[in-house]
Amino acid sequence: MASGEATVFLNGELLPREQARISVEDRAFLFGDGVYEVTPAYGGRFFRLDRHLERLRKGLSALEIDYDPAHVPDIHERLLRANGLESAPAAVVYFQVTRGVAPRTHHFPPEPVPPTLYGYAKEYVRPERERWDAGWEAVTVQDQRWSRADLKTVCLLPNVLAQEAARKAGVADAILVRDGLALEGAHNNLFAVFGDRVATHPASNQILHGITREFVLELVREEGIPVEERPIPLEELQGASELFFTGTTTEIRPTVKVDGRPVGDSGVGPVTRALYQAFLEGVEG
Ligand code: PDD
Repeated sequence: MASGEATVFLNGELLPREQARISVEDRAFLFGDGVYEVTPAYGGRFFRLDRHLERLRKGLSALEIDYDPAHVPDIHERLLRANGLESAPAAVVYFQVTRGVAPRTHHFPPEPVPPTLYGYAKEYVRPERERWDAGWEAVTVQDQRWSRADLKTVCLLPNVLAQEAARKAGVADAILVRDGLALEGAHNNLFAVFGDRVATHPASNQILHGITREFVLELVREEGIPVEERPIPLEELQGASELFFTGTTTEIRPTVKVDGRPVGDSGVGPVTRALYQAFLEGVEG
């Protein structure tokens, strides 16, 4: 199947996407009341699915949604197979759990309702190496999210607005800035290189604790590069020699200009290149 998107999972069933229906009273439709994960698979093997599951559990617990994700790995496998992606070089599975369907009240439904489960699989197409080598641009956008950005909820309006600002500016990514600090992207984490050191915002409640971020931090340490998990003032970021984003649908994406100003002095830098090489070997090995 070319698109890999045709068969979706909804509440225990695999079915054609056109036949998948949810209620207008679904809590995610009315309130954004749900959590999700996006997990990569390389050559049909999920990458760090256990970490994605752990983050999903954390979100479910924080939102007090009563769902045990024990069957989630099986659902992921079924979605890949049903969409002919079991040997695709790269694919992603989206999986969402909402609080379920109930008449609209701000508080939780007084009588427990089953959660809504929805998932789909999609091919991931990596940019050509030549495109990657040229790097991308980013713009800075004020971060307007709530104080639990570490929860992967489907309440994504501030992220949507930030990414739309990037699109309107004709660039790939948005850098979310709060109180003068450069936190992360609209759907990815941000790393900066200062001289011989790599820095990224700490895994606080102000950013999503990316699984790719975690993997890239391991790679940085394996390369013997000193790493600092600390807040990065935007002013300091402007003096970085290299910048890149990380994420499931970003992998490692180098940024060569921010708000129209060049990062460093020579396009994509050596640290980002070395980490991308290690990343590709790590996910495919
Ligand atoms: N986004 N930060 C934010 C705000 C994100 O939404 C994401 C992921 C990340 C990177 O996390 P990870 O490395 O675990 O993918 C960081 C997903 C891909 C999305 O919303 O589609």
